Amino acid sequence: MKLKTKDLLTLAELTPKEFAQLIDYSIILKKELKNGNKPLLKNKTLTMIFQKPSTRTRVSFETGMYQLGGHAINLSLQDMQLSRGESIEDTAKTLSRYTNCIMARVYDHSVLEKLSQSSSIPVINGLSNSFHPCQILADFMTIKEKKGKFKGLKIAWIGDGNNVCNSMIYGCALSDVKLSIATPKGFEPDKTVIKESGKFIDIDLTTDPLKAIKNADVVVTDTYTSIHNNDPKRIKKFIPKYQITQTLMSNAKNDAIFMHCLPAKRESEVTSSVIDGPQSVVWDEAENRLHTQKALLASIIRA
Ligand code: CP
Ligand code: NVA
Repeated sequence: MKLKTKDLLTLAELTPKEFAQLIDYSIILKKELKNGNKPLLKNKTLTMIFQKPSTRTRVSFETGMYQLGGHAINLSLQDMQLSRGESIEDTAKTLSRYTNCIMARVYDHSVLEKLSQSSSIPVINGLSNSFHPCQILADFMTIKEKKGKFKGLKIAWIGDGNNVCNSMIYGCALSDVKLSIATPKGFEPDKTVIKESGKFIDIDLTTDPLKAIKNADVVVTDTYTSIHNNDPKRIKKFIPKYQITQTLMSNAKNDAIFMHCLPAKRESEVTSSVIDGPQSVVWDEAENRLHTQKALLASIIRA
C-alpha cells in the first residue's frame, strides 16, 4: 500500500481506511518476519534525528529498515551542523539529496513542520512535545491483536493528558473507538486536538478515574513526567488518585488489557502488580513499534 500523505506528523494526515490498512499490513509483516521480510526498502536510507533520548523508537526504526533491506543513519543533535546554527530548512534540503526519509524526535513540534516544508522526502514524527503518532499505530495494532476489532471498544486514558494522549485522540477518531480521559484539572490534552477530532469521536473528559475506567476494554497510562515536562512536583497532582492499581483495574471489564508506551515508572503511574501482571500487554505493545513502523516506512517511502 502507498499512503496519500507525504509526511506523518500527527496521524490526522491519515484517512480511517489508511489507518486500518496500516494496522492490517503491520500484522502481515509481523507474520512474514518469521521467514524473513521481502526487501521492500532495498537501497533506501532513513535519516534519524534525535533531539531527545530514546530506546524503543531508535532501535525499532533502525532494525525495521534493516529487516526491509534498507539502512538507517542515527544522528543526535550534537553530531549535526544544526547544533552550530545551520537552519532546519537547509538541513532538510541537504538530507533530501542523500536519503529517502527523515524520522525526527524533537522538542518543539514546529521543527517537524519546518522539516516537512523544506524536504522533498517524507518526514515521520518520532515524538514531539505535542504528539507521538508512531506509538499509537503500535497501540492500535496491539488492540487489534488482542481484541480482534476496534468497533464497540472503549479505551480509558488515565493520568497526564500529554503528547501520547493527544495522538490517542486521533487514533480513536480514526478507528471509531470510544475514549474516556481522566486527568487532574490543568493536565487535560490539547483543546485543539479535541475540537478537531470531536466530530469523529465519542470522547469524554473527566477528573474521575473511576468514571473513565468503567466498562473499559483497554486501560492506558503514561509517565507523569515526560522528557519535556520533567518537574517531579507534578507527581503529587496524580498520586494516589490516578495511579493504575489492581483495585482501579478491577473497575474495568474483566478481560480489559493494560497498556503503557514505556518507559514506565513502577509505583508511580502504575503499580508493579498491574504492569507485570496478567492483564498487561506492554511487551507486545513495545514489539509492535517495529512492525507498525515497517508498515509505515514501506507505505510512505516512494520508489
Ligand atoms: N515509547 C517510546 O517512544 O519509547 P522510547 O522513548 O524509548 O523511544
Ligand atoms: N510522554 C513521554 C513519552 C515517552 C515515550 C515523553 O514525552 O517523554
